[in-house]
Amino acid sequence: MEITNVMEYEKIAKEKLPKMVYDYYASGAEDQWTLQENRNAFSRILFRPRILIDVSKIDVSTTVLGFNISMPIMVAPTAMQKMAHPDGELATARATSAAGTIMTLSSWATSSVEEVASTGPGIRFFQLYVYKDRNVVRQLVKRAEKAGFKAIALTVDTPRLGRRESDIKNRFALPRGLTLKNFEGLDLGKIDKTNDSGLASYVAGQVDQSLSWKDITWLQSITSLPILVKGVITAEDARIAVEYGAAGIIVSNHGARQLDYVPATIMALEEVVKAVEGRIPVFLDGGVRRGTDVFKALALGASGVFVGRPSLFSLAAHGEAGVRKMLQMLRDEFELTMALSGCRSLREISRNHIKTDWDTPHYLPAKL
Ligand code: FNR
Repeated sequence: MEITNVMEYEKIAKEKLPKMVYDYYASGAEDQWTLQENRNAFSRILFRPRILIDVSKIDVSTTVLGFNISMPIMVAPTAMQKMAHPDGELATARATSAAGTIMTLSSWATSSVEEVASTGPGIRFFQLYVYKDRNVVRQLVKRAEKAGFKAIALTVDTPRLGRRESDIKNRFALPRGLTLKNFEGLDLGKIDKTNDSGLASYVAGQVDQSLSWKDITWLQSITSLPILVKGVITAEDARIAVEYGAAGIIVSNHGARQLDYVPATIMALEEVVKAVEGRIPVFLDGGVRRGTDVFKALALGASGVFVGRPSLFSLAAHGEAGVRKMLQMLRDEFELTMALSGCRSLREISRNHIKTDWDTPHYLPAKL
């Protein structure tokens, strides 16, 4: 059957993938309240479209950290993509370059920074988990830099892994033959079966729980790449990130996989945007599945969005072609949303093009 929207890939992926892998990709933390809320919150934002504006030409291109990209839709870092498809991150890299946008490679990729770079030209960011052993981090950042990655997305919401209960039940471990390729040479590439989620045990052993703001200064001392702080959802932290010289903020709740009962990212976005006061760009990820979602995020002040699970599920379904089509569908939907709202360029998208249920208590007056 023809695929007509991004969400349809999930069903195909579920049919194709081993249960342990599908569950790892799909699940959120604990009650998965935030997982649902990341989607639901978008449906509480309605449009205020403007009419009779010449929309015969629409430009969806934009600039991120000085790089020109084809659209404000980018690929979030998601770990272990070779579990989805044998081409894994290499397919994602090719599809993302073909779409003219940015891919973020996970620290926990099953392909190395060098392998991803060898797929050809493309603007790529590297997502960083800070390990207890700072020599490991130093080496990895240097390798990413050398391989031509353009920014570091520092994930700050994972001192410990959130409780993803299906991973615990499935005793999640990396399938045979796959490794965390970036760490292979450092003897940290395996995720073994344990009495828990194997990934949770790995994180407990390797990831530095003492990570704090001063480490941003440390990271700046070992790299000249711009640093995006990924996982900010409050105004307080947004202001500190600006003070510490972050190049940008990604409003993210890690796809609802860390702390359950944090708000949907689309609801946290505006407080972060206001706190930042335009000093650095603010991006969003979490639950973006439609072009209308992209528009809503931009109307609330985001400079762009990232998609996580849609890349995994489209990759699992149809490899590189799947990821290409997923990005193309989001682009087409976003462009259509702009046309139907009377916006010809991203600059024209404003707060007045939407209303949220937190603007007014009710959409409709009590009596009509
Ligand atoms: C992630 N995410 C993530 N984030 C990160 O900083 N490093 C990582 O290695 C991963 N790995 C990862 C694996 C899987 C299976 C998922 C679903 C997510 C979080 C990711 O970057 C992003 O924040 C969310 O996926 C965005 O939400 P959506 O688009 O999946 O709803």
